Amino acid sequence: MTTMAHGQTEMEIAAGRARENVVAGGALVRHRRASRLIHWSVAGTFFLSLLSGMPIWTPLFGWMAGLFGGLEVCRWLHPYAGSLFFILSILQFFHWLGDMRLTEGDRSWFGPKAFKYMHHEDFPADPGKYNGGQKLFFWAVTLGAIGLLLSGLIMWFPLYFPQMIRELAILLHDITFILFLVAVITHIYLGTAAEPGTFRAMTRGTVTRAWARLHHPGWFQEVTGDEARKR
Ligand code: HEM
Repeated sequence: MTTMAHGQTEMEIAAGRARENVVAGGALVRHRRASRLIHWSVAGTFFLSLLSGMPIWTPLFGWMAGLFGGLEVCRWLHPYAGSLFFILSILQFFHWLGDMRLTEGDRSWFGPKAFKYMHHEDFPADPGKYNGGQKLFFWAVTLGAIGLLLSGLIMWFPLYFPQMIRELAILLHDITFILFLVAVITHIYLGTAAEPGTFRAMTRGTVTRAWARLHHPGWFQEVTGDEARKR
């Protein structure tokens, strides 16, 4: 068994290409290559849409247009980038839907308990592969993507809609993108600095046994067959 970059073994890399929810060497495969590809395509097109959309939104962010060669480029690029983001989001939705149904246990944990989790003081009742917060984020971004598409289409083809609808679409598009951005910033924080060991799940595809036992004891037990955490 050869150790590669980042201490990942050849066995772990090979396992992470095709399968997930399996033990590979000393690690657990959490996201197979296809899942990671879809996730990063969604993230990439999200930021492309964001950066090309913000200079159109307000001159305050006009300097961002320079990244694409000017405001005119942003104006035609943004709706195509947004449409691609939507298509990939729907692909991601169906790809992950099976794991994202909210359970009674997930719901009972919403509220102040979620903040305690961030400080490692409380844990959701035996979460499976994803906890309630992650599932909520999944449903919120799906709903957000639909809202952005519908309101965006109205602005893209304004001549087909009365003025009242066009104005409502602008409002909906702006509110949705601001909420979306706040949710994504929180998501990035939780997936990197706040919960060490999580980011590699989306880069290398694997997590350590200790990470899985701590954050997702139900999933840990399912994958390894070992008892995770006594409460
Ligand atoms: C640089 C930006 C991003 C980073 C660093 C990041 C990081 C991650 C990581 C590490 C996971 C795996 C969590 C786990 O296995 O428990 C994940 C999952 C996920 N990501 Fe991202 N992500 C980013 C952008 C996005 C964007 C823009 C979206 C959607 C628009 C998104 C949607 C999701 C969803 C729905 C999941 C599954 C549920 C969850 O774990 O919260 N991500 N992301």
